[in-house]
Amino acid sequence: MEHDDEVRAAAAGYLGVDAAAIALTGSTTMGLGLVYHGLALRPGDHVLTTTHDFYSTHEALRLAAARAGAEVEQVALYDDPAAASADEVTGRLAAAIRPATRVVALTWVHSSTGVKLPVRAIADAVAAANAGRADADRAILVLDAVHGLGADAAQPGDLGCDVFVSGTHKWLFGPRGTGLVWAAAGAGVAVAPTIPSFTAPSFVNWFSGDDQPSPFGVGNTPGGYQAFEHRWAATEAFAFHQAIGPDRVAARTQELATRLKDGLADVGGVRLVTPRDPGLSAGLVCVEVARGDPSELVRQLRDARIVASLTPYRETYVRFGTSIVTTPDQVDAAVEAVDELTR
Ligand SMILES: Cc1ncc(COP(=O)(O)O)c(C=O)c1O
Repeated sequence: MEHDDEVRAAAAGYLGVDAAAIALTGSTTMGLGLVYHGLALRPGDHVLTTTHDFYSTHEALRLAAARAGAEVEQVALYDDPAAASADEVTGRLAAAIRPATRVVALTWVHSSTGVKLPVRAIADAVAAANAGRADADRAILVLDAVHGLGADAAQPGDLGCDVFVSGTHKWLFGPRGTGLVWAAAGAGVAVAPTIPSFTAPSFVNWFSGDDQPSPFGVGNTPGGYQAFEHRWAATEAFAFHQAIGPDRVAARTQELATRLKDGLADVGGVRLVTPRDPGLSAGLVCVEVARGDPSELVRQLRDARIVASLTPYRETYVRFGTSIVTTPDQVDAAVEAVDELTR
């Protein structure tokens, strides 16, 4: 699978990791499902996640824990996203880690609120909790990174997570049906493949009766004939970001998000939900509508050729995204339109 290797090499260059540790998937959701089902959870194990994560994490954990007899706990890392602080978030997470915690399942940038987690500080807290534990009892930190990849330049090594799961079809602008899972060496061995890989040595073992172990990346890349044209085109998405520079992409995304937040903060009809602090936010910007139906605002904005969405969570906000294909004029037009439509 020469073209698979090209995608892995492009992703590895972008993420600053070993290409052999990258599995290619069809989406974030597929990656989360494969990782959580691949972990050998035991009865009584504790899986820690948060109320802020998306359905894909919650449902993958529910299914995996039900099979293993493990317990899943959701904690809130902040009450008011706009007032969230790194210390509060890290402190609440650290306080919820138990001796039986085997997995800490988090999302880098919450699509529920736009909050970007202080992942490095959280990883340090998980490492402190792991001090003195036997390998089989360690808690691993798994990150749904989909709203950070291509919007924030931090790499898995900077973040300190054990497993990094993402689609490459959102902020990275890869085709639909593409994604990846990277696992650090220690965590990778704990994830057993679920779907037969079509790549050597898995396929060759079957053919020859051999028993060669697969590297994490190959072993966890689902086989079957995939949408290869889409998968292999992801190489170009990484190259596009590399040509601009991930730091410049992140700076521009932040600059536009800050411009949008500054503008929306002055609009009387909405309340800014996403933190103003660029250290605690990326390109997602959420607001709460003071009066009326938020879905009506989304519809009216669309009529004005401004694309916003409703967050797909029980607590619903109006959500915008400022990527590098957004212009400052478009940001200003969005602020003006929200002002007019919420008076
Ligand atoms: C945090 C988060 N994770 C995962 C997903 C799903 O991503 P994918 O389509 O790559 O499975 C979404 C939204 O679609 C999301 O907001």
